[in-house]
Amino acid sequence: MNNHSLILKDKVAIVTGAGRGLGEAIARAYAAEGATVVVSDIDGAAAQSVAGSLPGASAVTCDVREPAQVEALVNTTVERYGKLDIMVPNAGVAVVAPLATQSLEQWRAVTSVNLDGVFLCIRYAAPALIKNGGGNIVIMASVMAKASCALIGSYSASKAGAVSLAKTAAVELRAHNIRTNAILPSFIATELVVSHKKEFEQQLGIPDFDAVIKQRQGRYGKESEVANLAVFLASERSSFCNGGSFVVDGGASSSLL
Ligand SMILES: NC(=O)c1ccc[n+]([C@@H]2O[C@H](COP(=O)([O-])OP(=O)(O)OC[C@H]3O[C@@H](n4cnc5c(N)ncnc54)[C@H](O)[C@@H]3O)[C@@H](O)[C@H]2O)c1
Repeated sequence: MNNHSLILKDKVAIVTGAGRGLGEAIARAYAAEGATVVVSDIDGAAAQSVAGSLPGASAVTCDVREPAQVEALVNTTVERYGKLDIMVPNAGVAVVAPLATQSLEQWRAVTSVNLDGVFLCIRYAAPALIKNGGGNIVIMASVMAKASCALIGSYSASKAGAVSLAKTAAVELRAHNIRTNAILPSFIATELVVSHKKEFEQQLGIPDFDAVIKQRQGRYGKESEVANLAVFLASERSSFCNGGSFVVDGGASSSLL
């Protein structure tokens, strides 16, 4: 007999960028812990396909750069399920380009999703969470918020900004029984990382990106290892965690060499 009680039972959660990768893993882990998940992504077909495989879940197409779409995402969730308990601003993108040559458009392509998008998720989820009497915001940042590397200035700056937003939200929303925390993963072998590997190798002169990962963090992290932390931070098990930045990085950020 399984004595494990589901720690997100009866909770309603939105996960953005959940059509694949870490967002999908979080949506699956939340559903496995009893939550009803709104699987959201700019790629509606991907969101639909994930939602279709999860009990009680449904999909909402949403570009997190667009205020009206984020507002509609929250409103649709509350109309469908009666409330919102958990918001996970997870959608994120990266552009690999040096600061000295990148365009403002390239910069904004990243910050509009990774920073504006997180702000908009907090902005529109907060009233629903307040109305609910409490809840959790779990922001997907990155270990790049702590230490950057060449070619991803916009990404690192946006993630540092997201960590900062977690701190402000933590204090502003605490009285409403809402906790906000940030997750800081190192490299996990999702599409985001795999699709940029060659660019890093070529532009940084790294002969073997995978060998650097092994040296820096032992191995690639698993999507489920990030999702486990996301479950903890969305549940009562983390009841005194608020405004925190939690690394899940195999030790990558603990050593200079
Ligand atoms: N993979 C890693 O190593 C790693 C490490 C640290 C942090 N992260 C962060 O985790 C999050 C998820 O990354 P991933 O690795 O799963 O990437 P991914 O590229 O596999 O998935 C990202 C998802 O976000 C969606 N998306 C992109 N732009 C969007 C927008 N404007 N609105 C809504 N959805 C949008 C994509 O369609 C995709 O489904 C990102 O915020 C990323 O920065 C990833």
